[in-house]
Amino acid sequence: MKLINSFAEYQKHYDFSIENPEAFWADVAENFLWRKKWNRVLEWDFHKPEAQWFIGGKLNITENCIDRHLPERANQTAIIWEPNDPSEEPRNITYQELFHEVCRVANMLKAQGITKGDRVCIYMPMIPEVAYAMLACARIGAIHSVVFAGFSAGSLIDRINDAGCKLVLATDGAYRGDKIIDLKSIIDEALEKCPTVERVLVAKRTKSKVNMKPGRDLWWEEEIRNVSDVCAAEEMDAEDLLFILYTSGSTGKPKGMVHTCGGYMVYTNYTFKTAFQYQDGQVYWCTADVGWITGHSYIVYGPLSAGATTLMFEGIPSWPDMGRFWHVAEKHRVNIFYTAPTAIRSLEKAPLSFVRQYDLHSIKVLGTVGEPINEEAWHWYHDNIGRGKCPVVDTWWQTETGGFMISPIANITKLKPAYATLPLPGVQPAIMDENGNELLANGVEGRLAIRFPWPAMARTIYGDHQRFKDTYFSTFPGKYFTGDGCKRDEEGFYRITGRVDDIIIVSGHNMGTAEIESAIDEHSAVCESAVVAYPHDIKGQGVYAYVICYDKPHEEEKLRKEIRELVAKIIGPIAKPDKIQFVSGLPKTRSGKIMRRILRKVAEGDTSNLGDVTTLLDPSVVDEIKGGAL
Ligand code: PRX
Repeated sequence: MKLINSFAEYQKHYDFSIENPEAFWADVAENFLWRKKWNRVLEWDFHKPEAQWFIGGKLNITENCIDRHLPERANQTAIIWEPNDPSEEPRNITYQELFHEVCRVANMLKAQGITKGDRVCIYMPMIPEVAYAMLACARIGAIHSVVFAGFSAGSLIDRINDAGCKLVLATDGAYRGDKIIDLKSIIDEALEKCPTVERVLVAKRTKSKVNMKPGRDLWWEEEIRNVSDVCAAEEMDAEDLLFILYTSGSTGKPKGMVHTCGGYMVYTNYTFKTAFQYQDGQVYWCTADVGWITGHSYIVYGPLSAGATTLMFEGIPSWPDMGRFWHVAEKHRVNIFYTAPTAIRSLEKAPLSFVRQYDLHSIKVLGTVGEPINEEAWHWYHDNIGRGKCPVVDTWWQTETGGFMISPIANITKLKPAYATLPLPGVQPAIMDENGNELLANGVEGRLAIRFPWPAMARTIYGDHQRFKDTYFSTFPGKYFTGDGCKRDEEGFYRITGRVDDIIIVSGHNMGTAEIESAIDEHSAVCESAVVAYPHDIKGQGVYAYVICYDKPHEEEKLRKEIRELVAKIIGPIAKPDKIQFVSGLPKTRSGKIMRRILRKVAEGDTSNLGDVTTLLDPSVVDEIKGGAL
């Protein structure tokens, strides 16, 4: 693969990728192990919508992530695992060991009757076994659906049932700082309502006492003893499903984004190597959880397909103290460090001594993802973690895009704090105005769309292609709509300004306001609710809920606590409202639509100019809401 060594070269590659995308991507795809080459690079139609890449190509992504590295890298560390507790030994897993571990899990799945096309749910903490589990599914052509282990039983039920998973790979529990999370009992609760699940394989992590349901639950450690450590890889079509990963939608129901084998492999590998300028032998650390797309693409598939050493961290940045990230970076001599703005903002609040006590000279490149990074956090990160020398690679992308879209190339693209800068080769952004016209000039602001397919784009929403079309391809017909607002400055650099739909991003996690509202509405005292975001110092956005009760609550604090706990139980602790304001009505138009603009303004603490409220059914509710703002 041609490496980009200068900005002029970036421009040359970029121009070529636009003029001749098929030749560009065919050239990149030559660098992989294909059982059979593709017949055609691309077929697409964004009106249907449809995109297929490397048509007729046959491959297995695990042969590209593992087998092909063995001649040269058998003894190189593939995964460094740093446990939650710093006094527990880290583990180094070589590519040779990874091969055998993945094969064993693959054979264990086969022994349970899992075959190509079956869906397998993975609900596990950040231990090496979770990577083995994903790769084992891919090895035998099963489709994994990883569910973030911070989600509750309710979220698990929706995701398992939507995908029709046959088997769950799980652990007894999870460590999170000084807490133990009882994962198995969450699974037990969920599976009461998941008729498709026949088996649960439970790995021991916390050694907590758990219930094992006879005929359904098996211990991982016992089953794996009986199988071989070699497993032939299933031949997959480039367009066969690799995984489903759920992301929040504007309506309550999460969307199962479908990613396929060939294009996803080519793109995550290419973008990983290009944006970070990954050099052979470097240690790379992405702090995300594998429950999110960042973990899929840039802890597991991208780095491993590039033969990199990828660090997996089980713990949290604040335990045992606020220096943990920097301790881990020093301990494992991390060269590329990739995290989220919310983590940077919380660590920025701690005394600098937590940073300064560690030697961070090994770090050469910094990355950020998940939400817009504010300038202050950018500078703190650049100056204190990057010693003023390391580029901050601000990668804009989405679960739907599979890989980086707009991002600097480390040490090549000029940096601008808070800007994701320029599109990577192959990516054709378009900024659209409210009327659906493309704004072609520089110095404009509007909504971000993408004009042309890229190999890792999601192909559909699992089981609901119409929703895929409605959500992403109807706002601007013929273009993919990202849901994000965006500026392009005079120089052509892009800055993502945030969501323009009903998705909010709390601590880097996407959540649909409708999803939170329906959880709040489950409380027997609640008649109706409306959720909006407000700016939050650390989380980026906080959850502000306006709640109407059937009867005026007597004990507001008690009810707030109950509502928070209920949301945590139904969705997960990350969705808990930060602020709950009890109101007697919501600002609705005569047609019954909630005017969220007003609710957002009040939540932001800006009540001076609420705009035109005359179209409201009952304008007096606005005064009440303003008066009771938290
Ligand atoms: O709003 C954008 C924001 O996160 C959304 C995608 O969220 P998710 O699918 O959970 O994927 C997160 C990890 C890729 C986007 O629509 N976002 C992501 N990265 C950035 C960002 N906003 C600004 N700058 C970024 N670098």
